[in-house]
Amino acid sequence: MGALAATAVRIRHDLHTRLLKSRARTDELFQIVREEALYDRPIAERHRIVFYIGHVEAFDWNLLSQRAFGLRSFHRTFDELFSFGIDPVGGGLPTDPPEDWPSLPEVARYRKRVREELDRAIEHALERPEEGHPHSLQMLHVAVEHRLMHAETLAYMLHRLPAGKKICGPEKVAWKAPRVKSRLVEIPAGRATLGVQHSNEHDNNLAQEKPAQENIVEFGWDNEFAAHEIAVPGFAIDSHNVTNHDFLRFIQAGGYDNRSLWSPEAWAWRTKENILHPMFWRAEGNLWLYRTMFGEIRLPLEWPVYVSHAEATAYANWLGRKLPTEAQFHRAAYGTPKNELPAQKARGGDALIRGAKRLRASAAAISIFTRGIRRRWACIPRG
Ligand SMILES: [Fe+2]
Repeated sequence: MGALAATAVRIRHDLHTRLLKSRARTDELFQIVREEALYDRPIAERHRIVFYIGHVEAFDWNLLSQRAFGLRSFHRTFDELFSFGIDPVGGGLPTDPPEDWPSLPEVARYRKRVREELDRAIEHALERPEEGHPHSLQMLHVAVEHRLMHAETLAYMLHRLPAGKKICGPEKVAWKAPRVKSRLVEIPAGRATLGVQHSNEHDNNLAQEKPAQENIVEFGWDNEFAAHEIAVPGFAIDSHNVTNHDFLRFIQAGGYDNRSLWSPEAWAWRTKENILHPMFWRAEGNLWLYRTMFGEIRLPLEWPVYVSHAEATAYANWLGRKLPTEAQFHRAAYGTPKNELPAQKARGGDALIRGAKRLRASAAAISIFTRGIRRRWACIPRG
């Protein structure tokens, strides 16, 4: 086997391994749900949980089976039943009863067969990369990314399911987190590179070994292309996340009753749904409780607050600040791309890079106990 073919095999093998790992992620998530709750609908606008068990498999099958490997359908009804999620139109909610959905053993048999047939086809393709569909790598990337996106949204959906309907793992969780004092960090004006460049634009030969380069990827979603530079004026940003303690002050100051802090759409949502605090908070007398995936605990004041975009925006307005833009986030969290270093140095970029490294270190330390929790910073624009 030549060097190029060997590289193509390695790329496909890596992708197959990623697919197997992503399956393990979604399997783990479904396993935390008690069997009798698998036909529940934790979010009114979404499908019942059982749909998603079938959906992540049907998506892979519908994407890969015929186009990539020439396989024939063995269960057209399930291929179709599990093909699409829900996009509620005009506020209408789904009304299907649990009996509309197949039994768990039927869904499990479908999942098993999909995986067996696809894995066999992928293994075969690994041996003969030159015979494969020209877009089979892209399709495998899509399958992996689609499943990982569902892992993320499933985690949120299952958080909404009552704790009694879930099985907590044996691992001990350290609820304590260090208390840190946030401070404002000045970020000087500079340029941020957003988006990415596809490796095909850079070099048409996917199988060729290339050194890792900033902003050049083998796969991305269409809204990630193309790489482009943005000039970002100087600004200041908090060095740490907004905590539950910070947000509690907003609640105590009447932030949820102050219409001027909310956009008209956000205010309409807040009043219609009678939103008075973050989704997973609950007041019991004077005590605030926080609903984790597996039960309630006293509100951990030092944790980053987990809120909707509308609530985060109202909080920032209350402080007289704004949520950071994507370009500001890049400047603050990632420093600056290598190819902009000379210009940055001329503008005092060394200080920025040191500051960004400190910010990254803080973010990494915090993310140890906040995985899956949305982080919010508030920042002040500088003229
Ligand atoms: Fe999907």
